[in-house]
Amino acid sequence: MTVRVCRDADVLASVAADAILEAAATAIRERGRFSIALAGGSTPEKTYGRLAQPNRATDWARWWCFFGDERFVPADDPRSNSGMAKRALLDRVPLVAEQVFPIPTDRPTPADSAADYAATLARAFAILADGPPPRFDLVLLGLGDDGHTASLFPGQPALAEDRAWVTWSAPGVLPPPVERVTLTFPTLNAARAVLFLVAGANKAAPLREVLAGSPSCPAARVRPTTGTVTWLVDGAAAALVDR
Ligand code: 6PG
Repeated sequence: MTVRVCRDADVLASVAADAILEAAATAIRERGRFSIALAGGSTPEKTYGRLAQPNRATDWARWWCFFGDERFVPADDPRSNSGMAKRALLDRVPLVAEQVFPIPTDRPTPADSAADYAATLARAFAILADGPPPRFDLVLLGLGDDGHTASLFPGQPALAEDRAWVTWSAPGVLPPPVERVTLTFPTLNAARAVLFLVAGANKAAPLREVLAGSPSCPAARVRPTTGTVTWLVDGAAAALVDR
């Protein structure tokens, strides 16, 4: 695990964009494509904007974009994670449309969406749906004030899901109060690399808890079996961390 403290959220966004481009270059060189699970919430938006800047040195046609979680709202709802990512990045760079996989939220229930997304992952990674989870080259994650990550909220049954690749969750205590669809710990922990993006003074307390390995913090359970975990945090979020 690596923790890198950036002066502020702007520097964090630039450092994160460079790290993502480096992961993409490695994956494309070694495997011919780059599979990334994008994070939702507000923190990643600046990073997505840096990636969308013109003349970024990457082969966008080899990017395969997925999502770590989604609010169970219509795709055009302002709370949609895929909507935010489309505005900030996906609609601004020359990706191959068939290689962008939003989590569907037009199914009858979030459980249906989770099952459909798992089937989508199996197809996209050309693996058996009842086998080990897909191995993302990079998973981007955030940290909630309550220690959640993706949509794995404290006290929710989704935390105990140890077989399905994707599951659903009732709303957490933090807004927005909507049902969620989320990758599970088995899938997150299968990743080659996980990059947490954490900014703001309100993250100082949960970050200290997570880095101390507090079992009450879902984010502390992101420990990839063979992958790396990097925490990119700004100074405000790092205020309570023992350097
Ligand atoms: C979501 C995200 C969630 C987010 C954290 C941090 O759907 O909201 O998946 O896990 O990453 O809540 O959110 P901020 O970046 O907005 O602080």
